Amino acid sequence: MSDSENTLSAQSGGAQPREQWSSRLAFILAATGSAVGLGNIWKFPYITGENGGGAFVLIYLLCIATIGIPIMMAEIMLGRRGRQDPISTMKHLARESGHSRSWGLLGWMGVIAGFLILSYYSVIAGWALSYVPRMASGIFTGLDADGVNTVFSDLVGSAESLLAWHTIFMIMTMTVVARGVRGGLEKAVTYLMPLLFILLVILVFYAMESGHFEQGLSYLFTPDFSKISTKGVLTAMGHAFFTLSLGMGAIMVYGSYLPEKTSIATASIAVAVMDTIVALLAGMIIFPIVFANALEPAAGPGLIFKTLPLAFGQMPYGDLFGTLFFVLLVFAAWTSSISLIEPAVTWGMKTFKYSRIKMSVISGLLVWFAGLFTIFSFNLASDFTISTSITTHYGEFVILKDATAFDFLDYLTSNIMLPLGGLMIAIFAGWLMKKEYSKQELALSPFWYGTWSFLGRFIAPVMGIIVFMNAMGIIAFFESILGIKLDAFFRSLF
Ligand code: PFF
Repeated sequence: MSDSENTLSAQSGGAQPREQWSSRLAFILAATGSAVGLGNIWKFPYITGENGGGAFVLIYLLCIATIGIPIMMAEIMLGRRGRQDPISTMKHLARESGHSRSWGLLGWMGVIAGFLILSYYSVIAGWALSYVPRMASGIFTGLDADGVNTVFSDLVGSAESLLAWHTIFMIMTMTVVARGVRGGLEKAVTYLMPLLFILLVILVFYAMESGHFEQGLSYLFTPDFSKISTKGVLTAMGHAFFTLSLGMGAIMVYGSYLPEKTSIATASIAVAVMDTIVALLAGMIIFPIVFANALEPAAGPGLIFKTLPLAFGQMPYGDLFGTLFFVLLVFAAWTSSISLIEPAVTWGMKTFKYSRIKMSVISGLLVWFAGLFTIFSFNLASDFTISTSITTHYGEFVILKDATAFDFLDYLTSNIMLPLGGLMIAIFAGWLMKKEYSKQELALSPFWYGTWSFLGRFIAPVMGIIVFMNAMGIIAFFESILGIKLDAFFRSLF
């Protein structure tokens, strides 16, 4: 594939025919670049640790297969048929099937969700970035768990450092976005994604040597349903959306550049499989190290920053591998962060007639500013927490307890906005869009179309509604009225 073929103008719509990915592989790589990111290597291990391991992983895998893949297919399909930014696409497709243009609001919510996610995503990517020089300088060599913990708490405790790294990461992101994106990015993804994968496999071999590999594997793959709570089930569902970049229009924008003949199902499955493999590899690396060093699996967002440097500090050429690892992690975060802001930039360019550069600067500055909330939530304003609950005469139902600004943003986006967006996409594609259109776009055999339709029309919306209602405290409310506990119900199923 030549460079010129491979380069896409990221602008949407307009009088000229819309450009397309040069091949199915190009699309798969770009979508994988969006999907594989901090969600796989940073978030998946720590939420698995917080939710007790195997049972959580199993539920997560089920969510990927039953809701993640069908919704990804729906999102790509809508993008390809609409061939514009998510807001215009939804308006256009709704009209085409005889429905209200207010479906454009769905695109709006996606633009806002991407904006909010990037505001904290960039801060965490900044942590990873700051570990590159730390690793390269060799400070972790021979350091024990306490020493590694101190490095991490010093970092997050310093608002200045976090601000500096967040700023650098935002400049990196907006530079690529401003330059019209994908030529360079697509090429880089082609090399760096396989490299990340190879490095993860090398680290799995290292983890095997730790002596606690089996314990790590069994933590990850032996379900113990007594450890799972309703919150765990819902976190798994929310994470299925986050990790596959669903529910906010990022994949819709990428799908809008997909050539007609490409099979949407094959591409979706390929992306979901690669994304899942990376997450599982990350888990297989981290948990053996956690157990070998008597660390706490439920250490929260700092988990990989406390475990991996410890492992690198003890292995031969650890500084080198460690540096490479964090470089690749930053890269994975970079290709995701671009897709988080791309819907907002393309929409703004079209609406305000701003140049790509101007729109990138404006949106970058806004996200940078919003990132301050996350930064301060780890230090200066860590005491500033939000607790929300609903009190009725049946008692008090806690929705958020002592949540910092970072916790709140994560909750709002992963547990409310993305599932709600995914749910609406499934409802639109499964129920409102004319069947002849979805049949034509998906081009599946009757059996597979039937399967997709069943999952997309029934399973995905029901799951989406449950996640959303739970996140809003509605489920807790009904639990108390009916006098049942869903936790107990889930456990009784197994
Ligand atoms: N999927 C990315 C990750 O796992 O890190 C995060 C993400 C990117 C979420 C793009 C949503 C999105 F639109």
